Amino acid sequence: MGSLHVLDHPLIQHKLSILRNKNTSVKEFRELVGEISALMCYEATRNLPMQEIEVETPVAIAKAKVLAGKKLAIVPILRAGVGMVDAMVDLIPSAKIGHIGLFRDPETHEPVKYYCKMPNDVAERNVFIVDPMLATGGSAIAAISFVKEYGVKNITLMDIIAAPEGVEAVRKAHPDVDIFVASVDEKLNEHAYIVPGLGDAGDRIFGTK
Ligand code: PRP
Ligand code: URA
Repeated sequence: MGSLHVLDHPLIQHKLSILRNKNTSVKEFRELVGEISALMCYEATRNLPMQEIEVETPVAIAKAKVLAGKKLAIVPILRAGVGMVDAMVDLIPSAKIGHIGLFRDPETHEPVKYYCKMPNDVAERNVFIVDPMLATGGSAIAAISFVKEYGVKNITLMDIIAAPEGVEAVRKAHPDVDIFVASVDEKLNEHAYIVPGLGDAGDRIFGTK
């Protein structure tokens, strides 16, 4: 059974406040998405299994620990999820990266898939699906379903801001998935935007508005 983790670390919350501000520049927004993603990744990987090894230091043999078990894959939901990847790969250089292209139909708000490319061995990896925004949950639910079709068993969803409606929908559709967010905001508005949110994450990362 997956759980919802709201990451209330002061550094994450401080940076999130700047991210929300409509006057934050594209450059600063992009940098903050990276910094928050790194901090969230640090928390979301806290329970990865470890194994003990021996390392010869210049002085003696040390009993040391390394990551054990399955390797990781990071799967951003295009476009905005791409803004989270580099910071995570800096922390986990052995992670492979898959991509899922989805956009929300402006009328129905339903996700439309336009691209999907996974690492060949994705079924043997623990997968982190990343996207800054979890609004209705439609995109995340579709992305998790696609990844499961590849045979992946262990999936974690990481979003910076979520709406309560989105969290509920994902938990109902995929109760096995752990969800990490920096904030669960108040609600969705009539355009399925998160309130107060931060606006359109893709436009703010890529400067397309
Ligand atoms: C945004 C966001 C999520 C999705 C969340 O992407 O990055 O992928 O909306 O909404 P949902 O939970 O209601 O599905 P968008 O569709 O705007 O595409 P973009 O990243 O290409 O801008
Ligand atoms: N996608 C965004 O980028 N922002 C929202 O508030 C909702 C969906």
